[in-house]
Amino acid sequence: MSTVTSGDQPLPSSLLDRLAAVLGPRGILTGTADVEPYLADWRALYHGRTPCVLRPASTAELAELVKLCAAAGVPLVPQGGNTSMVGGATPDEGGRQVVVSLARMNRVRDIDPLDMTMTAEAGVIVKAAQEAAESAGCLFPLSFGGEGTATVGGVLSTNAGGNTTVRYGNARELMLGLEVVLPDGQVWNGLRRLRKDNTGYALRHLFVGAEGTLGFITAAVLRLFPRARETEVAFCAVRDEDAALALFRRFRDRDEAAVRAFEYMSGTGVGLYRTQIEGGNVPLDGADHYVLVDLASSRPDAGLRTLLEAVLEEALEAGEVLDAAVAESEAQRAAIWRIREEHPEAQKREGASVKNDVSVPVSRTPELMRRSSAALRALIPGSRPVPFGHLGDGNIHMNLQQPPEMDPAAFLARSHDIMDAVNEIVRDLGGSFSAEHGIGRLKTDMMEGWRGGAELDVMRRVKAALDPAGLMNPGKVLP
Ligand code: MLT
Ligand code: ZN
Repeated sequence: MSTVTSGDQPLPSSLLDRLAAVLGPRGILTGTADVEPYLADWRALYHGRTPCVLRPASTAELAELVKLCAAAGVPLVPQGGNTSMVGGATPDEGGRQVVVSLARMNRVRDIDPLDMTMTAEAGVIVKAAQEAAESAGCLFPLSFGGEGTATVGGVLSTNAGGNTTVRYGNARELMLGLEVVLPDGQVWNGLRRLRKDNTGYALRHLFVGAEGTLGFITAAVLRLFPRARETEVAFCAVRDEDAALALFRRFRDRDEAAVRAFEYMSGTGVGLYRTQIEGGNVPLDGADHYVLVDLASSRPDAGLRTLLEAVLEEALEAGEVLDAAVAESEAQRAAIWRIREEHPEAQKREGASVKNDVSVPVSRTPELMRRSSAALRALIPGSRPVPFGHLGDGNIHMNLQQPPEMDPAAFLARSHDIMDAVNEIVRDLGGSFSAEHGIGRLKTDMMEGWRGGAELDVMRRVKAALDPAGLMNPGKVLP
């Protein structure tokens, strides 16, 4: 029997012929160079193998391929923009897992500015969804560094958060309905654009955050919002972590609805931006703590500049804010956001780093950052804590940069110690070991300790009910 040979456990040629008949020549990649981009994650933590990459162009094609693979017992790994921070979309090293890329399913099927909804296929890139909403005079508010590559299916599968969670919630809150190809190849059309729909179990929520372990999200009805007509962005040097939180509270108390994003950055992270990113200018240099405040309103006369200046003045008087730069143009707003958005890239260029995507109640963020930084410095002398991120929703990226002189591999060998040290503090503060990046492969071994007992038991039973053969994204989420 002839076989395809790019993986070490090739697919039978009869199955391949049937898949080719369904997907056509553009729908199957088998050459080593062709499949290579699908095998490694963005952080290069994992490098897997696959017999082939399947690229369906429609829900019907995907349903057919899932049926064929289910009958043959072939495990499938859904992949969107491949921006997972936890190896959630990477096949394992065994060579049996077939990658299914949703990239060709990239149509915006419908936008309704009266219902304020967009129906988008899984492969639509987040940035394209934002642009499609904008062209209809609306806003799709999900926003984060990887938005130019990440896809609608990926952000729903991982329940991504990002910069605007404080105002609009996570991906889950932006979703009204779903279309899903189930592990047996059935298509569930739940693309309802309803604000009220109490009809038994809310199945759509099962698939959000399941990271493709229960089926393929193929399309979604997304919530849209009025576009912003007034925006203000400020970059502030603040006294310390408590001052950052106090400033957030001042804005929220004055006008909660105006705060679109509230992001913390450390002096270390901003320093990495300055040295590692081309054109990395920073308006207020030399502080230890910074915040980015982004205010927005759909009202053209919202008076956001007055609000911003009043709050900053109060906070300056209180000694919380040391200095502030207010953007005067779209270019300046983008330049301030760039400082925040380039943090992951700056960290990558500086050398090895370990990410700790954790959350705590918002009130505990200063304690999280202080205690974790001290614990990490004690654990690895010379290492550089780089806490940053979404202070307004309690999600801090408690990342750690290697000591400059240390061998990167030796530093990365301590990854689990580093994550454990932070997680101990997170647990003590009533937080979560995974805020917005998901579990993927990286954190499956933490599930038992954090979600064991009834919670994990129910998850396993749900998995067994929907995917009894365990063919959907094996090795992810569940230990
Ligand atoms: C971000 O907010 O930039 C990422 O989620 C954080 C990270 O890369 O650690
Ligand atoms: Zn983030």
